[in-house]
Amino acid sequence: MKLLILLIALLALVPTVRAQQIGLIANTDGRKTVSLNGQWQTIIDPYESGYYNYRYQPSDDGYFKNAKPKSKSDLIEYDFDTSATLNVPGDWNTQSDQLFFYEGTVWYKKSFDYARQPNTRLFVYFGAANYLADVYLNGEKIGQHEGGFTPFNFEITKLVRDTGNFLVVKVDNKRRRDAVPTLMTDWWNYGGLTREVKLVETPATFVHDYLIQLEKGSRQHVRGWVKLAGEKLNQKITIRIPEAGLSKTFATDNNGLAAIDFNADLKLWSPENPKLYEVLIEAETDQVRDRLGFRTIEARGTDILLNGRPIFLHGVCIHEEAPLRGGRAYSREDAQTLLGWAKELGANFVRLAHYPHNEFMIREADRLGILVWSEIPVYWTIQWENPATLENARNQLSEMIARDKNRAAVVIWSVANETPLSDARLSFLKNLISHARSLDPSRLMSAAMERHYINDTTQMIDDPLGEYLDVLGCNEYVGWYDGLPEKADQLEWRSKYQKPLVMSEFGGDALYGQHGDALTRWTEEYQENIYQHQIAMLKKIPFLRGTSPWILTDFRSPRRPLPNIQDYWNRKGLISNRGEKKKAFYVLQQWYRELHR
Ligand code: GCU
Repeated sequence: MKLLILLIALLALVPTVRAQQIGLIANTDGRKTVSLNGQWQTIIDPYESGYYNYRYQPSDDGYFKNAKPKSKSDLIEYDFDTSATLNVPGDWNTQSDQLFFYEGTVWYKKSFDYARQPNTRLFVYFGAANYLADVYLNGEKIGQHEGGFTPFNFEITKLVRDTGNFLVVKVDNKRRRDAVPTLMTDWWNYGGLTREVKLVETPATFVHDYLIQLEKGSRQHVRGWVKLAGEKLNQKITIRIPEAGLSKTFATDNNGLAAIDFNADLKLWSPENPKLYEVLIEAETDQVRDRLGFRTIEARGTDILLNGRPIFLHGVCIHEEAPLRGGRAYSREDAQTLLGWAKELGANFVRLAHYPHNEFMIREADRLGILVWSEIPVYWTIQWENPATLENARNQLSEMIARDKNRAAVVIWSVANETPLSDARLSFLKNLISHARSLDPSRLMSAAMERHYINDTTQMIDDPLGEYLDVLGCNEYVGWYDGLPEKADQLEWRSKYQKPLVMSEFGGDALYGQHGDALTRWTEEYQENIYQHQIAMLKKIPFLRGTSPWILTDFRSPRRPLPNIQDYWNRKGLISNRGEKKKAFYVLQQWYRELHR
């Protein structure tokens, strides 16, 4: 009896998830990878009967078992292999009319063979899955991930077999009050395996993560770290920058961590000259390469300094809506089209709203010399008092920073958009800001804050959150939700803070091709009128150091049903969902050209 009790106690210690998981692998480029993109078998499961039994208890015999009838009398009520397929990467909403409005669970299954080399480890890497993903390999749970816009990976070294593997992912995009984002957003809740899925092979001890960049405020001093994962943690690490004739060696400590610290005379990354260096990180058991830009970013008084010189961020907001075809954007081509249009506008900056976009966007911005504001979806009215919600937001922030911390283009981390004033909200956001600063002290912190009228013609920025930010962000819709376009002419802006302001949203809707006089809503002329008055107002704000109007292209939103005008599209784009430029595009382009001179 005693023995039985002891055995049960021991078994309780064995985690249900078989593999001990390590954090995000910093860089999979140059590693042996196998793409799992393409057609996946899927089962639409609105009642989650593949997960719960009829007593709404999690079943041990769910769809993750990918079971097959063993005899003619065997009862199995699902079959992935005769079920419909969906493309991965891709949202499910735009792949089937049946799923356009669908919010719930879809099961994905992919079969693969993989002959793993000895002394190697294997991971399955997801660029993103919206929103809650339960991941199984060969019937075993390997992990769960919450958050629709950040990457995650799970180790499958011990579970993978040479042939006949089946990877099953339960993806649930149901909105929840306690989630991040919460129930209400002004963007489409595209569900699914929305970004790439791949297998990543590494040596037994490998370069797991690293941060290599110029120290804040210095244009020569490179600081950072390299972290090994595996058994052989004491190693020599060499950083090579062949083009600069540079090679520096450091030693890891017992935890596999090496502090990186050296001086170098490097060409600095900037929009005018987005210089990227090939950098090699060599350990005794592994090597990774990356293309890194070196630049510094600071806020001093009301100025933003790039490489020590004041800069004006003339930009635009972008949603991750696929250009021309609609749906969640995910590819390098999508990124090139969207950022190409931003360049055409004369932008040196983009605000990627309201969640971390795919890695192609960030790497293209690095290559094109476009500065990036990257944000987590702490949007509108989050459950501030809920500790699980805070932990979730912190985790999304960690993952965003983990993936993009080595990208020169990313200069601003934003922790929130249009969140209502309260003490609970302030302590929630302060917690996120200090978390971000602990992970990355080199970048600027911001958020789209609240502002208010102190009289009919004066807007005041004194949101207490401003105290904890480096750059103030403010959204305003003077001329659309707030009066008519010419109202902007009377407006004066004041701030309680000696800090730079980025007007992080302004604009109005227009249906491309809809014409009328400048005061007729939904026409290109009305939108053009808004921009003309806005630009005149913005030019008068002494502490304004950036603009990112709302928004580069029309994007889908379930909050926009107006027939023959919106049809579930937010029409504030300067470019339509078919790639057509509206009149306001050229108004802004002209201003940005002036700023360039
Ligand atoms: C808000 C919000 C956006 C939204 C926009 C709009 O300010 O931040 O997400 O889409 O306004 O109303 O069009």
